[in-house]
Parts: sequence; structure tokens; C-alpha cells
Amino acid sequence: MADVVLGIETSCDETSAAVLVKGELASLIILSQDVHKIFGGVVPELASRAHLAALPAVVDRALAEAGVALSAVDGVAVTAGPGLVGALLVGVMYAKSLAYAGDRALIGVHHMEGHLFAPAVEDPQLSPPFVALLVSGGHTLLLDVPAWGRYRLLGETRDDAAGEAFDKVATLLGLGYPGGPAIEKLAREGDPSRFNFPRPMISEGFEFSFSGLKTAVLHAVRASDNLDRDRAALARGFQDAVLDVLVSKLERAVRATGYSTAVLGGGVACSRALSARAAERLSGGGLARVAVASPRLNADNAAMIARAGWHRLRLGERSDWTLDARADLPLPGLETAEITT
Ligand code: KG4
Ligand code: ZN
Repeated sequence: MADVVLGIETSCDETSAAVLVKGELASLIILSQDVHKIFGGVVPELASRAHLAALPAVVDRALAEAGVALSAVDGVAVTAGPGLVGALLVGVMYAKSLAYAGDRALIGVHHMEGHLFAPAVEDPQLSPPFVALLVSGGHTLLLDVPAWGRYRLLGETRDDAAGEAFDKVATLLGLGYPGGPAIEKLAREGDPSRFNFPRPMISEGFEFSFSGLKTAVLHAVRASDNLDRDRAALARGFQDAVLDVLVSKLERAVRATGYSTAVLGGGVACSRALSARAAERLSGGGLARVAVASPRLNADNAAMIARAGWHRLRLGERSDWTLDARADLPLPGLETAEITT
């Protein structure tokens, strides 16, 4: 049994621990590393060091807030990849020692599978089949999910991930890191009719491409004689183009599979603009219900890792002591889909 699961997430710049009791979230601690702000992006070596310094206290705090003693924990779920290898290693080593010392079950979790499970933390009824759009700083995945643990890849990005495009465009506009929240905030004040950016590959298939759009924004920034005046409209034009592509592909996948649920996950799913647009296009037309977690659970966090781990532990899966951090860990259960548009 794995009634009490401790989740650990250290794949990037958030040090996080969470406790799930019988699948219910009992606590979640997320410590965001401030050290990267002045560098305008995550510095891997600094991330590893900050995880090392903070993780024991973050875990202790999660246990204390859940009112659970370490001795009551029977499973430890940890992000084993993909991500920054040094950062991942801190979490994996700590999880392994906690599991080994207490004779607990250990399960390595794929970070994107964690994002996929995030809505299930708040909505225990959520179950496949559904289509999932997972959009983060490193990935853009459109999946057909016939069952938890079985993933058919419909499409992914050919170049930049959606979140990466937000971050790069934010840099072009002189906004801070991470770029997504800054762009979303600014875009609210921007005139949507000023810039009509290209929507790459929108009319066919399930694949994505965002690098051309980023270049189009770069040209518009260079052509602007007053960036302070144009910044909000540029942010709006860019955001509208990305969201239009994401939601169009999601709608195409819903129509192709005939499923009645669409899941949004990953850091970009923190965007209210994205979830609102998806709900408008899919739920509005009665096509599908859109399931999306609250922003705290879409950004990197250990609750989603504990939830995905709990699922696998209940199936009797265990990682052994050779569990290692892998920067390029493949998604388990991934099959290539035959579905075409
Ligand atoms: O999942 P996540 O927290 O970390 C990774 O696994 O990569 O995703 C981070 C990404 C960043 O690129 C960030 O700019 C983006 O999510 N993001 C957003 C928003 N909030 C975070 N993108 C668009 N709009 C947002 N509100
Ligand atoms: Zn993530």
C-alpha cells in the first residue's frame, strides 16, 4: 500500500515537496529560487546548489503542514527527468535516501507525466480518455490519452516550446524572466488589432512551430520607433497568435479522437487567457469539457509528482536503487499515433 506519499520536485528552479494522503493533497510547499532573476534565466549550477540547501527543510515543512510524521510515509515519488540533470540529481538522491533508510517504496516520475496528473489533484473524477495539451518551458506535447499511463503522441513542437517562445519574446520586449506571466499581464492592455502575427502551421496537422513567430516579433520590435508605446500591443499580438495555434490544434485533436474532455497542463496552462480561450472554443460549442488545474498546480510543483507517483505505486510499480536522474528521460508508455487530420 502507499497511502501516504511524499512527492519531491527539483527539475528546474522550484524546490518543492508535497504530501498526499490516500490521494488527497495534505500539503504543498513550493520554494521559488530567486537567485536566477538577475541572470535573466535559470543558471543550472546555482539551481543545484539552491536545491541542496533548501530541500531538507522544504520536505520537513511539507510533512509538518500535513501533520504527518516521516515514519508514516510509505512511498516517495520524485521527478527523475527530464530537466536539469544536476538539479534532478539532488531530488533523486534525497528521495532515494529517504526511501532506503525507511524501507519505503520509491517511484521515479516523468516531469511531464506529473503535469498531466495536475488536474487530477483537484478533480479526482478526472479520468481518460481525453486529449491533453502539455505546454511548458521545455515541451509542447499534444497527446491522446486512452488510459492513464498510455500516451499516443499526436504532435509536438519542431523547434521552440510554447513557454520558451513566451520567455524569448519577453526578453525581446525587455520584460523579466519568466516571460509568460509578464506577457499575459501586459497583453491585457494591448490593442489586439495593432499586430497580426503569423499563426505557424495552424491550418494543418498536430505539430507546432514557434520560432518563425518569434522572428516575426523580433522584426516588429526592430521596426518600432517607440517600443514603450508598442510593447503592450506587441505582447497582445504575440499571445493571441500562440494561443490561437494551441487552441486550434487542441480542437482538431478533440474532433479527431471524438473525446469529450480536453486537459491543459504545464506552466503555460497558468495562463488564464489560454484556459479562457480553450473553454470558449471547446466548452462553448459543447465539444468538450476543458480540465485545467489552478495555477499553483500547473507551475512546477511536487503535488503533481506525488499524484502521478501514487497512481503508479498503486499499480505495484516501484523504482529500484539504480534510479538515476536523466535530463532526456523519455515519457513512459509513449506510442506514436496513427491518427491524422
Ligand atoms: O512547467 P513550467 O513551470 O516549467 C517547465 O517544466 O518548463 O513552465 C514554465 C513556463 C515558462 O516558459 C513560463 O514563461 C510559462 O511556463 N508560463 C506562462 C505563464 N505562466 C508561466 N506562459 C504564458 N502565460 C502565463 N501566464
Ligand atoms: Zn514543468
